[in-house]
Amino acid sequence: MVTLLENPLRVGLQHDRIPEPQILVIFGASGDLTQRKLVPALYQMKQDRKLPPELTIVGVARRDWDHDYFRNHMKEGIEEFGGGLISEEVWKDFAKGLFYCSGDIDNPASYQKLKAFLQELDELRGTRGNRVFYLSVAPRFFGEAAQQLGRAGMLVDPKKHRLVIEKPFGKDIGSAQMLNQVVHQVCQEEQIYRIDHYLGKETVQNLLVFRFANAIFEPLWNRQFVDHVQITVAETVGLEGRAGYYETAGALRDMVQNHLMQLFCLTATEPPNALDADSIRNEKVKVIQATHLADLENLERSAVRGQYTAGWMNGKPVPGYREEEGASPTSTTPTYAAIKLYIDNWRWKGVPFYLRTGKRMPKKVSEIAIQFKEVPHLMFQSAAKQVNNNVLVLRIQPDEGIAIRFDVKMPGASLRTRAVEMDFRYDAAFGQANAEAYGRLLIDCMLGDQTLFTRGDEVEASWRVLTPLLEAWDAPAPPDSIPLYEAGTWEPVEAEMLLNRDGRRWRRL
Ligand code: BG6
Repeated sequence: MVTLLENPLRVGLQHDRIPEPQILVIFGASGDLTQRKLVPALYQMKQDRKLPPELTIVGVARRDWDHDYFRNHMKEGIEEFGGGLISEEVWKDFAKGLFYCSGDIDNPASYQKLKAFLQELDELRGTRGNRVFYLSVAPRFFGEAAQQLGRAGMLVDPKKHRLVIEKPFGKDIGSAQMLNQVVHQVCQEEQIYRIDHYLGKETVQNLLVFRFANAIFEPLWNRQFVDHVQITVAETVGLEGRAGYYETAGALRDMVQNHLMQLFCLTATEPPNALDADSIRNEKVKVIQATHLADLENLERSAVRGQYTAGWMNGKPVPGYREEEGASPTSTTPTYAAIKLYIDNWRWKGVPFYLRTGKRMPKKVSEIAIQFKEVPHLMFQSAAKQVNNNVLVLRIQPDEGIAIRFDVKMPGASLRTRAVEMDFRYDAAFGQANAEAYGRLLIDCMLGDQTLFTRGDEVEASWRVLTPLLEAWDAPAPPDSIPLYEAGTWEPVEAEMLLNRDGRRWRRL
C-alpha cells in the first residue's frame, strides 16, 4: 500500500502542452495498427482534451475508400479496441478531422495528389503547414515512402515536417545503416521519430524517475550489489494472422532488438545530465555500445530460441506455430528467445542481464527483476534454506507497479525467516488507467520532443549486439534444430539451462 504525498515531483519528460494545429498523415491506413491502436489512441487523447481542436488525420492506402468509409471503419476500431464508451459528441468533432486519400506508395503522382490535398486541408482546417507523416506500412516500403515524400518536397522544413517510422527499423545492422542513409538523404535526424511503443508505456518512463529521482536505489544499482537482472516480456497471443511478417522476423527482430533492448537500456544506463532527448539518448547509446552477448565463441551459452507447438490456452486448444495460417510447416522461426548479455563498463562488468520473450506463454506479463546479491555473512545458519535474496521487481504490464522482496523474522520463539513483499500498485495509488502508449508518443512527436524515440545510432548499436545471433539463427537449419515448447507453458528446457549453468533460475511468474 502506498500513500500519495503532496507536491508530486514533476520531471521534464512530462508535459501537458497542447501541440500546434497539424495534419497527421498515416500511410498504411487500411492496416490493423491504424484501426486498433493509432486512431483509438488519438480518440482517447481527443476525449482527454490533449489534442489541438484543428488536428486533422489523413489516412493513405491503396484501397478505393472515401472519407465516410474511412470514418466508419475508424469508428468501429475505436468501439472495439478503444477500451471505453464512445461519446457521440466527441466523435462528431473528431470525425470532422478524419479524411482519406487513396494512393500507391511507389507512385510519385500519389504524393503530388496528397500534397495538393494537404494544402487544401490547411485552408479548411487551419493546420498551418504542420505535418507528421506516419509510416505504418510494410518495413520494405519505409525507404521508398521517405524518398518519395522528400522528392515531393514534403519534408523540407525541419520545424514543421516530421517523419514517424514504425519498427522494425531494418532487419540487421546492414539494412538499418542503409535505411538510415536513405532517410537522411531527405530529412534531418531531428525530423525522424523511430517509434517503439514500449517507450510510451508509463511504467517504462517511470524507470528513469524511479532510478534517478530517488536517492536510495541508485547506490545499489551496480555490480557491487546486483547479482543479475532478468527482463521478461511474456505474451499469451500467438501469431495473430501475421505470418507474412513474422516468418521473416521471429522473436529476435520482433521483440528483442527493440522492446526488450529498450527496457534493458533504461535499466542499465548511466544517469543522463538532463532529461532532454539528446542527454538521455547519448547515455543509452553508450550503454549499448558496451554491451555484448555473453559468450561469442559459444553462442548456445548466450542464447536459446524456441517455437510453440499445439497446446491449450485458457481451456481452449490452440495450433502450433507451424500449423498457423501462412507459417511454413517446417519453419524454424523462433517464437521464443532468451539471451544473456554483459556490459563492459565500471558499473556492470560481470553482471549478467538475462532477457527473454515468448508468444503463447501461460501469462501476459512484462517485468524487470533486479536480483540482489546474498548477504556477505549469513548469521541465521539454522534457517539458511529459508533466506531469500532481495529482489526488486518493476512490473511493466499488466498490474503495473513495483515490489521489493525482503526477509523478515516470522513471529514465534524460533528464528525462522520468511520473504515478504512491499508492493506499490499504480491503480491503487493513482486510480486511473494508463493512457495508451501510442497516444502519448504521437503527442510528443507533434510537440517535437524526441526523448521517447530511438535515435539512428541507437538502433544501429542495438542491431550490432544481436548480429552474431541473427547470422546463426538465420542460417538454413533442419526443422528439428529448434527447441519446442507447448503453447500455454513456459520456456523450453534448453532455456532453463541458460541460467542453471550459472547456478540461477528464471523467475516463475
Ligand atoms: C509488437 C510486436 O511490437 O509488440 C507484437 O510486433 C507484440 O508481436 C506486441 O505482440 C506486444 O506489445 P504489447 O504492448 O501488447 O506488449
